[in-house]
Amino acid sequence: MISLERAFGGRRILVTGGAGFVGSMLVRRLVEAGGRVTVLDDLFTGRTDAIPAGAEFVEGSVTDEPLVRDLVARHGLVFHLAARNIVASTANPRDDFATNIGGTLNVLLAARESRVERVVYTSSASVYGNPRSIPINEDDGLVPLSPYAVSKLAGEHYGLAFYESYGLPVAAVRYSNVYGPGQRPENPYCGVVSKFMTAAYEGRPLSIHGDGGQTRDFTFIGDAVDATLLVATHPRAEGEVFNVGTGVETSVNDLVDVISRVTGRPLQAEHIDRRDVDNIRRRVVNIEKIRRMLRWAPQVTLERGIGQTVEWFEKSGLAQQATAAAAAVPRAG
Ligand SMILES: NC(=O)c1ccc[n+]([C@@H]2O[C@H](COP(=O)([O-])OP(=O)(O)OC[C@H]3O[C@@H](n4cnc5c(N)ncnc54)[C@H](O)[C@@H]3O)[C@@H](O)[C@H]2O)c1
Repeated sequence: MISLERAFGGRRILVTGGAGFVGSMLVRRLVEAGGRVTVLDDLFTGRTDAIPAGAEFVEGSVTDEPLVRDLVARHGLVFHLAARNIVASTANPRDDFATNIGGTLNVLLAARESRVERVVYTSSASVYGNPRSIPINEDDGLVPLSPYAVSKLAGEHYGLAFYESYGLPVAAVRYSNVYGPGQRPENPYCGVVSKFMTAAYEGRPLSIHGDGGQTRDFTFIGDAVDATLLVATHPRAEGEVFNVGTGVETSVNDLVDVISRVTGRPLQAEHIDRRDVDNIRRRVVNIEKIRRMLRWAPQVTLERGIGQTVEWFEKSGLAQQATAAAAAVPRAG
């Protein structure tokens, strides 16, 4: 891994979406490395208590063009994570368009104007849709199947077009199902790991959409953040997009087994209807490109990652809350 102090110490860094799950962990690492970090977040899903001490917080939206321009002009490096998530996007595509596409364009135009050193854009493996073959390579077909996938891909394409057309140093990562400490279950859009963990502590059956045979590539937060930091500094990352995952395909049913084992709580699953947003059957990404070009590899297995998430769940009081909530509800029969 690069020396974070050398790479980020003393630099002025803007993180949009820095009050969110991935953004707040990224901000923590940057602040620890001595970066002078500003967070721009409208608190749509983000929380002020997630923003690490030492970072400056500006409450506002990436759709606010003058604000973005002013902030970007005062920073040399931009991590652009602010986005409406898949559930919100499916419910309100116009809002998704304004934030994920319009907001990204605001960031890129401002970055071009003030000649920032690099913009890192966080895209999603959802841009691949249902892949023809797995593991999925970066240059495989892109078939966005949700408004969210369309807007994340548009942001990515704009970024790379700004690199080609104006020489703006942009690099992008495509995350695949990031999970881990900090992903809060009370956020209605949180990932499946966090939801299952809560159900485990509540002692109620897990709700699985569909048969549970759908697969994903679950990526530990620490690994995703390491990859993002590397992409921000590596000379070969400019103008490139990288899959960030593990290369390991895990079914939702397998995930349930791992959570059962690690929490020591035997879990039961109940199968409910598939959701609109769950239209991808199999997903696992090929991580050879980032491994080869940037020498990055994931460090944390699913079992260990779930272990760390369980520890955080217990330390943060979420486990106790879930257990107490379950005890307060009288059980039928
Ligand atoms: N978590 C994953 O599994 C995953 C997978 C693929 C891609 N991504 C991408 O990674 C990034 C971070 O995702 P996350 O999981 O931390 O989600 P998150 O919802 O926790 O974080 C997103 C943050 O952006 C903020 N935000 C939303 N709209 C905004 C706006 N208009 N202006 C300013 N801030 C705004 C939210 O309040 C939140 O703090 C996003 O770009 C997302 O598309 C995440």
